[in-house]
Amino acid sequence: MARTLMVAGNWKMNKSFLEGLVLANDAINHALGSANITVVLATPFIHLHTVGGMLKDYSHYMKLAAQNCHHESQGAYTGEISADMLRSVGAEYVILGHSERRAMGETDELLAKKASAAIKAGLKVIFCVGEPAEVRERNGQERFVKLQLERGLFNLADDEFRQITIAYEPIWAIGTGKTASPDQAQEMHAYIRSLVRQCYNNLVADECTILYGGSCNALNANDLFSKHDIDGGLIGGASLRAEEFGNIVKARAAKQYIRN
Ligand code: PGA
Repeated sequence: MARTLMVAGNWKMNKSFLEGLVLANDAINHALGSANITVVLATPFIHLHTVGGMLKDYSHYMKLAAQNCHHESQGAYTGEISADMLRSVGAEYVILGHSERRAMGETDELLAKKASAAIKAGLKVIFCVGEPAEVRERNGQERFVKLQLERGLFNLADDEFRQITIAYEPIWAIGTGKTASPDQAQEMHAYIRSLVRQCYNNLVADECTILYGGSCNALNANDLFSKHDIDGGLIGGASLRAEEFGNIVKARAAKQYIRN
């Protein structure tokens, strides 16, 4: 079976309730007709229920995601949202391990708990990894990402790991306009896939969707998606511009997965 190709929009902390309705409607319209890939809208919590309703007619390829969840299923955790609660409003995915949340103190150990709680609740997880600039400057990116994967994800059983999409997001490329070159991204994606192969097996590695994130836009998407191990993108800034988001979706949909 070929791996799932995907473009996911991470709205981060943007859009009022009404602005979110407009953006979701426009994003859906611009993404229409790309049913050979999975399109994900990761909205702030306040939009999930309504955007979920808007995605219903396209739910065979357009999916709803949250940007975080708590590791417990319920209880006295003021201000938190559990994976079960996300499922109850129709979310199918949750983003975990984004560098912006790691920067607020989320550790690999906490992320491992969150990933396992999310999967137990029936969510799929888009799990982000990626190195800061100073680590790349001393060529330490592989060791850095390997540790993030080992500590955050590789404790999962085979069938649990199959619910994971990995997003490689070098921190120096996020929101900076400085994209990793297609070769730099491909090199890391191939490395990540080789780690999945070692830890699990060929089938799990071949089917694992690995997204690139970090200033991915309509101009560079085509080149990035031409690489064998880049299965799609996690899009921040450009996902707030519906037409551009749609063009990134179309760029991914136009390039089908080719087996080695
Ligand atoms: P960016 O963000 O596309 O704005 O660089 C990507 C992300 O943080 O997921």
